[in-house]
Amino acid sequence: MNDDLKIELDAILAPFDQTHLLQFWHELTVAERLRLGAQIKEIDFDLLRSLHGSNQTGIDWGDLASRAEVPPAITLADCANRGSYQAAIEIGSEALAAGKVAMILVAGGQGSRLGFEHPKGLFPIGPISNRTLYQMHIDQILARAKQFRTSIPLYVMSSPPTHAETTQFLADHQNFGLAKQDLKIFCQGTMPAIDRQGHLLLEHKHQIFVSPDGHGGMLAALAKSGCLADLQQRGIQHVFYGQVDNPLIQICHPALIGFHIQQQSEMTSQVVRKTDPLQKVGNVVCVDGQVRIIEYSDLPEPQARLRTADGALKLWAGSIAVHVFDADFLVRSHERSETLPFHRANKCVPCLDRNGNPVRPSEPNAIKFEKFIFDLLPAAKNSIVSEVDPADGFCAVKNSAPAQAETPQHVRQAIVDLHTRWLNQAGVSVAPNIPVEINPRFAVDAEQLATRMIGATTIEQPTYFDVDQVAPRPVANSISQ
Ligand code: UD1
Repeated sequence: MNDDLKIELDAILAPFDQTHLLQFWHELTVAERLRLGAQIKEIDFDLLRSLHGSNQTGIDWGDLASRAEVPPAITLADCANRGSYQAAIEIGSEALAAGKVAMILVAGGQGSRLGFEHPKGLFPIGPISNRTLYQMHIDQILARAKQFRTSIPLYVMSSPPTHAETTQFLADHQNFGLAKQDLKIFCQGTMPAIDRQGHLLLEHKHQIFVSPDGHGGMLAALAKSGCLADLQQRGIQHVFYGQVDNPLIQICHPALIGFHIQQQSEMTSQVVRKTDPLQKVGNVVCVDGQVRIIEYSDLPEPQARLRTADGALKLWAGSIAVHVFDADFLVRSHERSETLPFHRANKCVPCLDRNGNPVRPSEPNAIKFEKFIFDLLPAAKNSIVSEVDPADGFCAVKNSAPAQAETPQHVRQAIVDLHTRWLNQAGVSVAPNIPVEINPRFAVDAEQLATRMIGATTIEQPTYFDVDQVAPRPVANSISQ
């Protein structure tokens, strides 16, 4: 039976010059042979061959960037017009209260830059509470759902390397209070990497190296897992999308949902105003009438540095990877025959050499392929961007301590700064250098906090406003720390 399998696999691999994948066949156990055989049968070798032969996504970023204009935007200045902001809040609130909004949280990345050995969602980030990223997101979903007396289903995208631990972690913590029917964890697909000659790499003698296929893999995984059908059955019309690494994310903010609905946009992106032309965020631009994102690594420096007559950056809109999708648009995008393009990245991939010895390269030895969900933008009708102040909505944890930005320390400080500001707005002063943290289930925003604070006072020691706390007065000693 194993001989037959070897013949069958050889026949699959030979036309693509990949028979080296069976090089150690004679050393494998029966179970290992079956596993390798199953992996080989899953791989689309035609696709890999065409990806090896083609450049990037087939997109000339330099050319696109030279024609890039600013996207249609609702800026913070527009939001200062209370009338239109309030109208958006009302429209968004109505959709939330009617149970038409769900959230997708993408958490399939491996967080290698953070140097954390577990899925990133398990990273403790609460400055005082030490809550993990998952708990912080779920607390906010629960708070938002309570605000609108509804439920907001959460769909978490994991990946093969993160799936088992993520599922176990959330189960061990009773989903942090999210009802079982409101949490679905779906696993994205993988892609093999290739070397410069187009050969796949062996991670073990019985296993081909593969890695998650990028957050763009969400679309296929959502459909394959049944979550897309679940969204439809639940009557979800607007899908809020965010990344697990940003604990400041304003989950399902009614104004963002409202702008999205008001403008009949099929895909709305939240952005920050870039402070540095080379800031490491995707650039949301408009080319030939289509909104799209040019990743920071693809935007040529001269275009990144372009300024308007008043000295401001021309391409100012930096993506924080928060989007609102129309559920129908997701369905239509999935059904379209042409799929999202693959982006390629040169990476160091540990593998076996031709003698079966492990290699840990210090220089990139392989090309990895990933799809990006934001490549759906050009196909979306009436796409807009909506600006948020980064102090209110964006501080992602990406890097470990010695880095200059996006480290756990930066993110914890950003949370403390935001919550200090909310307290100040509610008439509470916080002594200098005293950390405070507010669980969204205590108060989801500054307005809610103001309704829970009576009388001016001062917080003089580290203070965590926990979920069920009844705090008519924020007297530091009576508040858990
Ligand atoms: C990303 C965006 C960038 C944006 C920035 C904001 C890309 C290519 N770029 O950059 O435009 O300005 O975030 O913080 O996305 N993920 C998966 N599966 C995968 C790969 C990633 O679920 O296969 C998830 C990760 O868990 C993470 C998110 O996608 O939550 C972002 O991935 P990451 O590689 O960290 O993107 P950045 O380079 O930080």
